[in-house]
Amino acid sequence: MSGSIRHLYVHLPFCAHRCGYCDFVTVVGRPGQHAAYVDGLLAELALERELLAPELETIFLGGGTPTFTQPRELERLLTTLPPATEVTVEANPETVTPALAALLRRNGVDRISLGAQSFQPRLLAVLDRVAGPDDVRRAFYHLGDAGFDNISLDLIYGIPGQRPSDLDADIGEALALRPEHLSCYELEAKPGTRFTHAHGAELHRQAEAMEDYFERVVQTLLGAGYRWYETANFCRVDPRGRDLRSRHNLAYWRGRDYLGLGIGAVSTVSGERWRTTPRLGPYLAAVGAGRRPLREIEPLPDSVQREERVMLGLRLDEPLPLEAVATSLDPGALARLERLGLARRVLGEGEAPAGADAGAVTLTTRGRLLGDGVTADLLA
Ligand SMILES: C[S@@+](CC[C@H](N)C(=O)[O-])C[C@H]1O[C@@H](n2cnc3c(N)ncnc32)[C@H](O)[C@@H]1O
Ligand code: SF4
Repeated sequence: MSGSIRHLYVHLPFCAHRCGYCDFVTVVGRPGQHAAYVDGLLAELALERELLAPELETIFLGGGTPTFTQPRELERLLTTLPPATEVTVEANPETVTPALAALLRRNGVDRISLGAQSFQPRLLAVLDRVAGPDDVRRAFYHLGDAGFDNISLDLIYGIPGQRPSDLDADIGEALALRPEHLSCYELEAKPGTRFTHAHGAELHRQAEAMEDYFERVVQTLLGAGYRWYETANFCRVDPRGRDLRSRHNLAYWRGRDYLGLGIGAVSTVSGERWRTTPRLGPYLAAVGAGRRPLREIEPLPDSVQREERVMLGLRLDEPLPLEAVATSLDPGALARLERLGLARRVLGEGEAPAGADAGAVTLTTRGRLLGDGVTADLLA
């Protein structure tokens, strides 16, 4: 029997060290456990296999640092996963050697998300990063030499001590590599991290300046010809017509179901959200014994699904069809945001402008720059 889920996330939690700002589910080192973990992932995949459609659209190996996983184990995982149209792997620059790039390429990976974060050594030091700017460039070239033609760079802005000129320099260095895709995140102070302990107050003080930084990122990348297709994500407009958006992340933002494997992984399946235990020991014990790992299960009533669809869908530059979400929107708020030039109603040919569920809605550039607050206003 096969199911209908076409998007698979696989969590590889191992990292060489823990960066101070990071609160993802990670495990430092433990090379001796990588094989057992890959066994666990494959056992979990076998248990959930019937949820997956016969043909997958996307697979995303995220972390942690997937490319820190012992190469033999990473290869065993990649050769056993089902094929998919887009296969992305997150990579840390210092782990990308010509051999690793070739391993990924020959095992069906066609997209890389490379965590650069910054090109300024002193800002990378604030973030506790291992890789320096030269490691980022070297990794990028190794990946290109191995045949990758769809590489995304992650940048973080709002790092304490970052001046506007540093931000311009970071974007300039990133653009010089001509990546197909860029993700630019504002640094968040995650509760309980070393970074928040050391710099949380400073980050709070500079919150207002950050609004200008976001606008600076957007205007610079639009000026360089990138498409601002999601609040924090940009892609090159390909002359050959290739769509360079992340298909995997588009599936999240469009509210599609997806299956997540591994510790801390999240899935949405038939009106429920599952969160797998973040603890390695209990996870390995369960899947090793042929049982499903411990998961928190959160029911997602239709109203919650619609609200999430609005919050995520309006981060995109594509109009959100109103038919599916109209009952969760406040028509008065929509009319007000239209008058303020923050939202725009897009009507199809012959559609009556009066119907609350007619056509689609999108935020204007100004609305998108103001962000999630504008979208939250729309919710009834
Ligand atoms: C799963 S994380 C880490 C991937 C990879 N291990 C790395 O370090 O590059 C994916 C991305 O989330 C972003 N990120 C992680 N923590 C963040 C934080 N506290 N604030 C903003 N962005 C963050 C980083 O840009 C990072 O590349
Ligand atoms: S930022 Fe990346 S490398 Fe650093 S601890 Fe988090 S997942 Fe690991």
